[in-house]
Amino acid sequence: MTAPALIVTGATGGLGPAVVSRLAERGDRLLLTGRDKARLAELGKEYDVETLATDVSDPAGAREAAEAALAAFGRIDGLVHLVGGFRAGPYFLMDPAAYEGMLRDNFLSAVTATQALLPHLTDGGRLVYFSTPLADEPMPALSAYAASKAALVAWVRSIAHELKRGGVHANVVSMTMADTPQKRRERPDLDTDHMVAPELVARVVAFLTSAESDGLYGSVVPVLGRFEFTSELSGRPPR
Ligand SMILES: NC(=O)c1ccc[n+]([C@@H]2O[C@H](COP(=O)([O-])OP(=O)(O)OC[C@H]3O[C@@H](n4cnc5c(N)ncnc54)[C@H](OP(=O)(O)O)[C@@H]3O)[C@@H](O)[C@H]2O)c1
Repeated sequence: MTAPALIVTGATGGLGPAVVSRLAERGDRLLLTGRDKARLAELGKEYDVETLATDVSDPAGAREAAEAALAAFGRIDGLVHLVGGFRAGPYFLMDPAAYEGMLRDNFLSAVTATQALLPHLTDGGRLVYFSTPLADEPMPALSAYAASKAALVAWVRSIAHELKRGGVHANVVSMTMADTPQKRRERPDLDTDHMVAPELVARVVAFLTSAESDGLYGSVVPVLGRFEFTSELSGRPPR
């Protein structure tokens, strides 16, 4: 069987290296996209994979990505949509543009990227998206982020029904904060025991882009590591 040909969007971000490394190690044929040309070039060199600087949240950019993958591999077998953004702040201080931005980063980018490649998934395919437990359990000051990820999850679960008869599997990884060097630098106060290693997320992405996940359509797979919601009121869970 030939190695799957996948588009990895937003590969320039925190989870990119772990995910790309895992899939490249498996022998997948990868096209990485992002808007940061310099970072993309570094990743392309390091993992010896195709890259394309484009914005997949724009329909023309998403079509360009699909065409580049077809030109490079002659086929497309799926999408790993790492594109995303994060904003925090009390809802009454967030202006409408911040909400629109979150919807574009976390939801509409998935719609445009997916629409561009769907016509090419003629032998079925694997689509993987990323959310957060906050989509189900929204915390204060995260309204725009939580709402945009909740929209993404509802959309994926809906399209999964539409796509399954064509052998296309659309699933979501729900993850907590990733334990990346950047995050450790930005937030030295954080309890890293509650964070999840990008390599653990990458293993689940490998599963969701393989025949091992044939039974999953529209699933939300939690990859939370040892994360737990805690509250001063609830007391500590038993150890
Ligand atoms: N890291 C975490 O702790 C965490 C936790 C829960 C969920 N997630 C989700 O998991 C996914 C991957 O995480 P990550 O940390 O790798 O994400 P990230 O670093 O925040 O973002 C990934 C990439 O998305 C691209 N991007 C952002 N907004 C975009 C837009 N409007 N249009 C096109 N591209 C855009 C950026 O690439 P360019 O600037 O090069 O285009 C960025 O490098 C994201 O969906 C994220 O929300 C992450």
